[in-house]
Amino acid sequence: LLVLLPLTALIAAGLWVTWTWRKPPRRRSETVTPYRNARPGVAYVGDAACTPCHAEIAATYRQHPMGRSAIAIEAAPADIRGDESARTLFTAQGYEYAVERRDGRTFHRETRRDEQGRTIGDVEGEVRYVIGSGTRALAFLIDRDGYLFESPITWYSQQKRWDLSPGYEQMNAHFERPIPSDCLFCHANQINHVAGTVNRYREPAIRGHAIGCERCHGPGELHAREPTPSPGNGPNIVNPRNLEPKLRDAVCQQCHLIGQNNITKAGRNLFDYRPGLPFYEFEDVLVRPADSSHDNPNANHFEQLRESRCFKESRGALGCISCHDPHELPAPAEKLSYYRDRCLTCHEKRGCSVPVAIRLAQNPDDNCVACHMPRAALSDIPHVATTIHRIPRNAKPPKGNVAAHPAQATDAPNLVPFDQDAMDSAQRENAQRDLGIALGVQGAAQAFPLLERAVANDPDDLQARESLGSALGALGRGEEGLAALEAVLRKAPERESTLVAAAFLATRLGRSEQAIGYCRRVIAVDPWRSDYHAMLAHQLTAAGHFAEAAESCRRALSLNPANVSARTDLIAVSFRLGAPQQARAEFETLLQFDPPDRDGLMRWFASQR
Ligand code: HEC
Ligand code: HEC
Ligand code: HEC
Ligand code: HEC
Ligand code: HEC
Ligand code: HEC
Ligand code: HEC
Repeated sequence: LLVLLPLTALIAAGLWVTWTWRKPPRRRSETVTPYRNARPGVAYVGDAACTPCHAEIAATYRQHPMGRSAIAIEAAPADIRGDESARTLFTAQGYEYAVERRDGRTFHRETRRDEQGRTIGDVEGEVRYVIGSGTRALAFLIDRDGYLFESPITWYSQQKRWDLSPGYEQMNAHFERPIPSDCLFCHANQINHVAGTVNRYREPAIRGHAIGCERCHGPGELHAREPTPSPGNGPNIVNPRNLEPKLRDAVCQQCHLIGQNNITKAGRNLFDYRPGLPFYEFEDVLVRPADSSHDNPNANHFEQLRESRCFKESRGALGCISCHDPHELPAPAEKLSYYRDRCLTCHEKRGCSVPVAIRLAQNPDDNCVACHMPRAALSDIPHVATTIHRIPRNAKPPKGNVAAHPAQATDAPNLVPFDQDAMDSAQRENAQRDLGIALGVQGAAQAFPLLERAVANDPDDLQARESLGSALGALGRGEEGLAALEAVLRKAPERESTLVAAAFLATRLGRSEQAIGYCRRVIAVDPWRSDYHAMLAHQLTAAGHFAEAAESCRRALSLNPANVSARTDLIAVSFRLGAPQQARAEFETLLQFDPPDRDGLMRWFASQR
């Protein structure tokens, strides 16, 4: 082996040389911008640096929902933050959900009791951050040793009630829904995400909490130093108003365009985006084709606005800031005239075709918005347009609270990049990679050729290679799939999503020992997921390592006592270890959690004895 090593190294080096020689590194077509602060390397200085010179804007912006989009739990009012006595907020699905404050820290807790009232499940997590201004809802972020998860508890402001978080009614994720960096990209100012992990952050996870000035104006270092740049030096702060329409809208698009899939471009971090640049060079947002979103209740503000005649026929003049002042919401009493004035900037001459007298009879305020942009009476589900942004001639108010989570496509292959019309042919070709990843997420076979091409074009594109591995697995080509995933792990041995994919594939190929290896590695990256421990337990059981399996089951159940797979494996293993009483006790506990397919479980248990 020692003799062979230099030889293989030489061959590898030789291959590397021919490879790089034959394929010169492909340079991205970077957009050039006159804004000096859009270039990499210019530092963010934080809102406090802007306040002295822009006091009025800073004061009003703090009142805007975006200026309150995230706070530390300490800054929340007492009824939200909790107080010293534990308080049960609500019960759902047989669980009791409570908030408690101890030693100046806030905890959310989920408790389950059996028929005799004994506690059979009790999990708590420390709340560190609140997401949301409370216009619709407040979400709470649980911090487990630097790993952020969403709390199952949400405050719905319009109905003034506590309840399960959106989507948990259908599938309760307990304390285990990870908060990935893209969630905080839209909801917080700056973050300290650990690359390669799904939801691990360095302290402090969130810097500056709420969305700050520089997210729309770009880094402020140069401008704060030299507010009025010397002539010929080029502008050093972005005013979105002065950007061409596509780039102007991109400033809002970075957070307000939520498609079926938002896919980060190869080699990019979303936080690399700077106002003044096109956002589609950083993220592809895949949406249903425009003509089909008429019947799509989930279409969001951008998709809807693009379909309006106001947008189509005003040649770029209409953008989000035609109607919205990002620093200040109009006061309730001024809302009507505020928006009417916005309409009349374009409709002063070519106005409403319905005569004023008739309009006033129907709507005593002649409220343009009430007739052309009505809103749902109740909608406290985030991410769905409440106000119709298609601006139709005749509008019915939307139903409200109808939508499922936006990232659910039923007709998977029918997706297009939102910005395809703005792209040149190379960029469109490049977007096929993003489509491939989106289709791969949905398990569509169409993903495969797209991903294969993406990996051939850019062998360092780890995300595409990982998706290709999973797609191969889905097509029944597990060996090749695993090889693709291994290639990723050679470059990034701790990449969490790849380790999970590899564990799945190895399991499917019946290779328990190999799967065990991947599971152990992913648990080393994130020890806080019961599904990772349960996956390990299952493979340890299959490989006959019963004592260790029992240990992993217990670890999984301590994180999530409702994990059915961990509980059934613990039962099976207890029998193998000669502890039938314990197996029976665990089975009784399992039934107390109302698991699906109770009859099937009864039969399964009988067969174990
Ligand atoms: C030392 C005072 C000072 C500080 C600090 C400062 N500004 Fe300014 N800012 C100015 C002045 C003065 C102007 C007007 C410049 C001009 O008209 O040439 C201005 C203009 C602007 C404009 C409009 C530019 C345009 O082209 O229309 C924006 C946007 C802006 N500032 C944002 C910020 C942000 C964001 C910060 C914090 C990172 C900040 N400013 C910090 C003094 C300051
Ligand atoms: C960094 C992400 C981000 C950017 C950039 C951004 N927004 Fe927002 N915006 C949000 C979030 C998050 C909310 C919801 C805040 C909340 O209620 O917690 C929001 C809320 C709003 C609201 C709703 C206020 C209400 O009535 O509830 C408006 C209007 C809005 N943004 C307009 C804009 C415009 C216009 C731009 C571009 C100039 C823009 N936003 C850029 C993230 C962003
Ligand atoms: C692509 C950007 C984006 C992502 C990703 C995103 N959000 Fe949002 N979210 C928004 C915007 C914009 C709004 C406000 C407008 C709306 O509801 O359409 C919002 C609204 C909300 C609200 C309601 C706030 C209020 O007070 O009205 C909550 C709560 C929320 N999001 C939580 C989350 C959580 C938790 C995640 C991640 C697991 C997440 N969002 C992911 C952009 C995003
Ligand atoms: C959500 C995006 C967004 C955020 C956050 C934001 N701005 Fe702006 N800002 C804009 C847009 C868009 C304009 C152009 C508005 C217009 O002309 O209608 C603007 C304009 C300005 C101007 C130009 C002068 C004026 O009165 O229009 C200044 C100065 C400014 N912003 C400062 C700030 C400061 C300071 C903060 C933070 C306290 C901030 N902005 C936060 C989007 C934003
Ligand atoms: C930036 C300019 C602009 C703004 C602002 C604007 N519109 Fe329009 N709108 C247009 C143009 C251009 C058309 C095309 C027909 C025309 O010229 O009247 C149009 C068409 C319409 C139509 C006809 C829609 C159809 O399907 O036939 C309605 C209704 C309408 N606008 C209402 C409004 C309302 C209400 C507002 C304010 C909330 C508004 N518009 C703001 C430019 C604008
Ligand atoms: C023609 C005017 C107009 C334009 C253009 C416009 N909006 Fe709105 N938007 C409104 C009105 C009116 C409301 C309702 C405000 C209210 O009732 O408080 C609204 C509400 C919102 C809300 C609050 C949630 C909701 O659905 O009620 C968000 C977020 C929002 N707009 C984002 C955007 C974004 C992003 C863009 C650009 C793609 C945009 N808007 C363009 C008029 C407009
Ligand atoms: C009482 C409801 C109502 C109010 C209030 C109202 N509209 Fe209309 N508007 C309509 C209806 C209905 C039509 C379509 C009439 C038709 O199809 O002939 C219309 C048509 C329009 C059109 C299309 C005109 C064309 O020539 O095609 C525009 C633009 C428009 N409205 C703008 C406005 C503006 C701006 C305001 C506020 C100043 C406003 N509307 C207030 C109900 C209303």
